[in-house]
Amino acid sequence: MKRLLVLTSGRGSNFRAILETATQGLLRAEVVALGVSKKGIAAEEVAVEAGIPVLNEPTEDELLKFVQAEKIDAVILAGYMRIVSSRFIDSLRNSDGLSRILNIHPSLLPAFPGLNAYQQAFDYGVRETGVSVHLVEPKVDGGPILDQRSFRIDDLNEFSEVEARGLSIEHALYSRTIDWFVNGKYRIEKRGGRSYVIRL
Ligand code: GRF
Repeated sequence: MKRLLVLTSGRGSNFRAILETATQGLLRAEVVALGVSKKGIAAEEVAVEAGIPVLNEPTEDELLKFVQAEKIDAVILAGYMRIVSSRFIDSLRNSDGLSRILNIHPSLLPAFPGLNAYQQAFDYGVRETGVSVHLVEPKVDGGPILDQRSFRIDDLNEFSEVEARGLSIEHALYSRTIDWFVNGKYRIEKRGGRSYVIRL
């Protein structure tokens, strides 16, 4: 069974979805611990309820030690509001040189990188937006893409509806993507300036 460390900074709805999918056996991996960048956030309660140990405000060195000691296969960023250093990323590469850190970004990258991407898409007035799961590289939101889903927002009038629709897609997509990336076979494909990890 593959071993995951999830890092988050807030609400933790993706963390909860990952835990639930793993419990149902639909994600062939176990969540070994949750790292939180701030104490007292909602995600921490989810971890405590589920009996998952919490690492409070860990430094990168503490995280690296934990990953080694606990034989963590992948680090899952789920709303983690800290930028991870190149050193941290380079210490966590697999035998193919790929980053073992995954992130979910609430837009169809490369559109709307950075913070508050659903808000950016809503304010811009796009008719469709999406979500992307990618590997973390030093260029923020620039790593190889594992999977993406688009969805319509031109039938919605409120930002909260856009976010709710997006989050429900995130919750399904993230677990499914983590599952094939940590357990399966893949190849890398370059298209223009971007790399894609293609499931085999
Ligand atoms: C999600 O929209 C995710 O895409 C982004 O941060 C948000 C985290 O939400 N990176 P939650 O804490 O998982 O509810």
